[in-house]
Amino acid sequence: MEVFRSKSAVRAQLADWRPAPIVLVPTMGFLHEGHLSLMRLARERAGASGRVVASIFVNPTQFGPGEDFDSYPRDEARDFDLLRAEGVDAVFAPEAGEIYDSKAQTIVETTELAKILIGKLRPGHFRGVATIVTKLFNIIRPDAAVFGQKDFQQLAVIRTMVRDLDMDIEIIGAPIQREADGLAMSSRNVRLLPEDRAAAPVLARALDEAETMAPTGITASRLRSHVRARLEAEPRARVQSVDIRDAATLAPVSGPLTRPAVILLAASFGQVFLIDNRVVHPAQEVS
Ligand code: PAF
Repeated sequence: MEVFRSKSAVRAQLADWRPAPIVLVPTMGFLHEGHLSLMRLARERAGASGRVVASIFVNPTQFGPGEDFDSYPRDEARDFDLLRAEGVDAVFAPEAGEIYDSKAQTIVETTELAKILIGKLRPGHFRGVATIVTKLFNIIRPDAAVFGQKDFQQLAVIRTMVRDLDMDIEIIGAPIQREADGLAMSSRNVRLLPEDRAAAPVLARALDEAETMAPTGITASRLRSHVRARLEAEPRARVQSVDIRDAATLAPVSGPLTRPAVILLAASFGQVFLIDNRVVHPAQEVS
C-alpha cells in the first residue's frame, strides 16, 4: 500500500493507474470495523482491476470552537496496518498545511441542508464537510466514493452537492455497522467513560422500538415523543435532538407516516457527542 502526503505525489500515482476505476473512501482515521466495511464496498465497486484509495484527514474546518478537534482520536500507524490488511491500494494522509492555504477564499455549502438538524447544533460543520470533500474529489478525481449512512445528513449533503455541481462521481452509501449491543460504530466511542459506554446503546434500543412502532399507524409526532422520552429516561444521556424527517428529502413530517421516514438522534454522553439514525417504514406506503 502506497502512502502519500502530498497532492502532487498522489496525483502522479493516480495518473499512472488510470483508466482503471478509482474508488475513494474519505475518513478522519481511527478506523473501526465500520470504516473497513466501507473499504470492502469500495473494493467491490472498483473490481479486480480498479484501485481503492482511502484518505485520512482530521479536517479542522468541520469542527466548531470548543468541539473535539484536539481530542479526536488518532492512530495513524494502526490505521495503515488495517488498510493494508484490507488490500487498500493507497492512502492519502496529508498535513493540514498541504490542504488549506491561508489565502483560500472559496467554500462549498449546501445552503438549506447545512442549516437544519445537525447543522443547527454544529453551525459551519457541513460547510467544512462539503469543502473538504470537494477538495478530496478534485485531488483524487475518483469514479465513485463511499460514505457511511450513520452520517445520514452528511450523505444527503454530499449527494446534493454532487448533483448541484455536476460532479461526475457515483456516491455509494454504506449501512451502519453496530457493536454486539447495538451501539453504532464510531471513532468517538473509545472516548466514552465505561458508565457512558454502558448507557449509549439506549440510542439503538430507542430506534429498534421506533422501527417496530412505525407500521402501527402512529403519527410521526407521537413516535418522536416516544423516542425522546425513551432517551430522556437514561440519566447519562444529554439529548441534543430527536427528529423524524422524510427519508428521501429530509423535509419535516408530523402526521401519520405514509412514506419511509428517518429518525435522527443526537445525544452527548459526558464529553462525547454521538449520532444514530434508522429509516422506518409505514405498513403501507402512499404515493
Ligand atoms: O465522515 C467523516 O469521517 C468526515 O466527515 C469526512 C467525510 C471524511 C470529511 O472530513
